[in-house]
Amino acid sequence: MNFLTFLLLLLSIIWIWILFQTLNSKHKKSGKLPPGPYPFPVIGNMLELGKKPHQSLAKLSKTYGPLIYLKIGRLDVVVVSSPEIAKDVLQKYDQVFSSRSPPSAAMAKEHDKLSMVWLPAENQWRKLRRICKEQMFSTPRLDASWDLRQEKLLILSDYVNQCSVNGRTVKIGEAALITSINLMSATLFSVEFADFNSDSSQEFKDVVWGVMECIGTPNIADYFPVLKYYDPQGILRRNKVYFDKLFAIFDGIIDERLKSRGTSVKNDLLDALLDLNQKLEPELSRDDIKHLLLDLFIAGADTTSSTVEWAMTELLRNPEKIIKVRNELRDVIGMKSIIQESDISRLPYLQAVVKETFRLHPAAPFLVPHKSDDNVEINGYLVPKNAQILVNVWASGRDSNNWLNPDLFMPERFLDIKTDFQGQDFELIPFGAGRRICPGLPLARRMVHLMLATLICNFEWKLEGGLKLEEIDMIERFGLTLQKAIPLEAFPIKL
Ligand code: HEM
Repeated sequence: MNFLTFLLLLLSIIWIWILFQTLNSKHKKSGKLPPGPYPFPVIGNMLELGKKPHQSLAKLSKTYGPLIYLKIGRLDVVVVSSPEIAKDVLQKYDQVFSSRSPPSAAMAKEHDKLSMVWLPAENQWRKLRRICKEQMFSTPRLDASWDLRQEKLLILSDYVNQCSVNGRTVKIGEAALITSINLMSATLFSVEFADFNSDSSQEFKDVVWGVMECIGTPNIADYFPVLKYYDPQGILRRNKVYFDKLFAIFDGIIDERLKSRGTSVKNDLLDALLDLNQKLEPELSRDDIKHLLLDLFIAGADTTSSTVEWAMTELLRNPEKIIKVRNELRDVIGMKSIIQESDISRLPYLQAVVKETFRLHPAAPFLVPHKSDDNVEINGYLVPKNAQILVNVWASGRDSNNWLNPDLFMPERFLDIKTDFQGQDFELIPFGAGRRICPGLPLARRMVHLMLATLICNFEWKLEGGLKLEEIDMIERFGLTLQKAIPLEAFPIKL
């Protein structure tokens, strides 16, 4: 690049910078933005995010406080890192902050216009939430489908048993992902999707992974909307291919169900959705149904399995705690290989392990980002209209202002306090809070406890290759969910 081109480029950057600043001054005039690091021209604070934005932003909050303003490309971003301000955003001003800015990847097949995850909190979204609550996640509905889930847990237990007999390791995250997909497909439409040994199930897992990868990969087009149409990283194109594959699978299942409905009734979510679709004035279109199923799988599979993987990792690093869980299970259920869902309330130590895992390893460290629909004053600062709001639950879970010895895995801390993750205690909100709280919470809660109990009750676990406990890595990989970077593998020993 010669000097003249360089100079022209530099001048253009400065000009664009001045233009952005001028446009931004609209906000600044009507209030003082929260503190934050000074942005570079054009890219803003993009470099501050690094590969693990939840950690970088937790560090920044130590310098600038629990409410930070960043400029990422063209986007105003406000980061919340304290329970008090999270309560303001998710409870006091819930209505203003309940929208989302769908990422470019979600535009594939117009998903952003049909999806419960990305729709604004208006009529269609309300309808989808109501249907899910009534038809799938209510206590009677979940109790009624327990038999189907019990079968899938027996499959997990048999698989671990086989590994034990053959002296093979279990990849805990993968086994939990297959089981999560099976638990959900059983609950949603009485079909088993994934199998521990078959290639056909690999295809389904690959597609689910592919979508999660596309939505989780940082996309430059999300920060510079003008690039949306060029899709410079090809993420939108790849996601369309995955969506096509998933929709083809769902179409097959729907067609099959429509054929068999005359002769057999399954009475699951799919039947309920098809009833709404076949009314004289349909409440849901076939597309609505497919996009809803997609949402449930993508939002539910990996969140649940990564929680199980982190819990097992923490327990393997703390052998006395895994023994405590096992002893509690033995006391309550004896030597059965599977616990009943109704047993969970009688297992306070297991519940404490799950809470402690959510505190240290929330699957969605920023929740699903919210958006402000208006200018709002919070804590004396202006949160500008259309800003993206990141509630850093990872940071408040590890903040010594909220927790004693925050970096230690100490389930015992939850035995004497009533703190729960249902959206009322803002220091522990791995499922969010307010109107956008995770609708799958009641199912997720059951799935995580059940999978952990199945893995612990009848098996002891040994690490591969004589790895010492303190050598188990805890490195995180940031994506759609917060994964363990190096998957946990361990040898099961049947007790
Ligand atoms: C939304 C966490 C399991 C379906 C969310 C949100 C979080 C979350 C943090 C965003 C809340 C917000 O925006 O404030 C989790 C965790 C799970 C889990 C930690 C497991 C450990 C599930 C399951 C399902 C599910 C099993 C369904 C089968 C959804 C859906 C949304 C959502 C559809 C979007 C709701 C909306 O935008 O209105 N989840 N989730 N999740 N979750 Fe979950």
